[in-house]
Amino acid sequence: MCGIVGYVGRRAAPGLLIEGLKRLEYRGYDSAGIAMSNGHGLETRKAKGKISTLESLVNGNPIHGSVGIAHTRWATHGAPNECNAHPHTDCTNTIAVVHNGIIENFGALRTMLQKQGHTFKSETDTEVLAHLIEAALDGDDPLEDAVIDALNLVQGTYGIAVISSRDPDKIVCARKGSPLLIGLGEGEFYVASDVAAILQHTRQVVYLDDGEMGILTPQGYEVLDLNARRIKKGVSRIDWSLDEIEKGGFDHFMLKEIFEQPQTIQNTMRGRLVIEEGFSKLGGLNLSKEDLQSLDQIIITACGTSWHSGLIGELYIEENARIQTETEYASEFRYRNPIVSDKSLCVVISQSGETADTLAAMREAKRRGAKTLGLVNVVGSTIAREDDGGIYLHAGPEIGVASTKAFTSQVIALALFTLKLARLRNMSVVKGREIAEAMLALPDQIQSILDHAGDVEAIADRFKDATNFLYLGRGYNFPVALEGALKLKEISYIHAEGYPAAEMKHGPIALIDEEMPVVFVAPHDAVFEKVVSNIQEVKARGGKVICITSQRESVLEGMIDHEIRVPQTIDMLYPILTVIPLQLLAYYIAVKRGLNVDQPRNLAKSVTVE
Ligand code: G6P
Repeated sequence: MCGIVGYVGRRAAPGLLIEGLKRLEYRGYDSAGIAMSNGHGLETRKAKGKISTLESLVNGNPIHGSVGIAHTRWATHGAPNECNAHPHTDCTNTIAVVHNGIIENFGALRTMLQKQGHTFKSETDTEVLAHLIEAALDGDDPLEDAVIDALNLVQGTYGIAVISSRDPDKIVCARKGSPLLIGLGEGEFYVASDVAAILQHTRQVVYLDDGEMGILTPQGYEVLDLNARRIKKGVSRIDWSLDEIEKGGFDHFMLKEIFEQPQTIQNTMRGRLVIEEGFSKLGGLNLSKEDLQSLDQIIITACGTSWHSGLIGELYIEENARIQTETEYASEFRYRNPIVSDKSLCVVISQSGETADTLAAMREAKRRGAKTLGLVNVVGSTIAREDDGGIYLHAGPEIGVASTKAFTSQVIALALFTLKLARLRNMSVVKGREIAEAMLALPDQIQSILDHAGDVEAIADRFKDATNFLYLGRGYNFPVALEGALKLKEISYIHAEGYPAAEMKHGPIALIDEEMPVVFVAPHDAVFEKVVSNIQEVKARGGKVICITSQRESVLEGMIDHEIRVPQTIDMLYPILTVIPLQLLAYYIAVKRGLNVDQPRNLAKSVTVE
């Protein structure tokens, strides 16, 4: 998500670092900063917004030196503003730190440091690192010793780069759970979270592994473990082009984002599931136990893909927490006269947090007395700032216009919220645990579907020239049918309709002939037998049946033309698995039709107009 680049050598570092940051901009950004060590103390510049804003700031108020670190931030803790931008410094401006990852025990560390007299300037988890290193600096000990002492107190994940005015020719970097590499030049060395940042300078890199630390000076580099023992590392050569690297080796951002989902849903769940109690911890709700217990209505409002996840959330909440729930298009909700009271909760779902209709719907619900809860991916976005409480998705920047990983993270966030709500009301611990355990298994299950992406590609090849598609599903998988159809429309420009499978006989059945591919989303859940009858109805009219199911079903033999299997889970979690092949199907069909998958015609990633 965030990006790090650092340089030690003989050249002027600021321009070089800003150039590196620009290469990381595709990962998302909301603020950026740079710190230099130049023998006269540390100098820092930070700015909210794009790297070009930081660049103008540095041009207007230059900073000098040939040792420095820089960062582009995609907020996870604290609003995206100048103060929360990295690098973060200690009380005496001796240490500057840039950090990717999350320090999970930062609250406790911050309290401890404040008791020792440290003063904090930002709301970030990262700032504790600067103060911990400051506290650990002892006499003339080298910087790396203090960094080791500090990191031994930290729980969570990090990729960090640190400079100190006491050790002005050095960068110390370390990794645990957040990628970091050292770039090797002639009398100059780089640190970066992503090879794209340094590729124009060197193709020789050393990848750090978890628990390793790099020490870089113009004279050379070494890698140590956190007990200060030297480690011998191999040097890798990068042969990829910059474009390939930004996309992580995938042809398109959309495909990269589809393949990120095992990781992104894990990020949405991280630290939030309490398995033993079948419960979830959601720190940002700003709703007391009593608030949650006294709700008598939930309104979910959103647009596009986010609306589809809302439909699934509605089923989750009504089924498990027994609260009346309605999912509404934000654009409709804002212009009617909805029944809302101070016992209503309005759940607002938005990847970007900026969709104009969704924002307006949230404001309308607030005006009418409802509390609002935002499920948002972009930290510090308008919805995230204006809602009463929220659950961040932590899915990382989504660049492909057609939303994929945000959808699965939204459904996970809704499942987490449902667990909390239902367990405070009527759900047993046994049921809660069953859901929580099934959620934990999802990342590996998604991976197993992705491992067979080639099977979906073969189906895409067969149907790439179709002019219409029908997507059918029931229960939890009806919204998935809608989402599958939307994905196909968005990027392949093929007309597609999503329908509740049984409703098909009231109209769409007239469309079915030998030319019509019909995608059934039919895992083995409580309504499977019912869907089988709908499959028969399609087959009897010559339709081509593509079936997403979860196990070998003899009843389907002879009825389906193409089968895609997903692993088995509990009924409510199937959408997280069944949507994956539909994302892949839309993607491969669009690619085979030669279309611009990441930027489809007429669409915008974030629709900030009504
Ligand atoms: C646009 C995008 C969709 C997205 C929708 C809602 O139409 O193209 O992919 O689902 O907006 O966006 P949001 O950021 O509010 O989730």
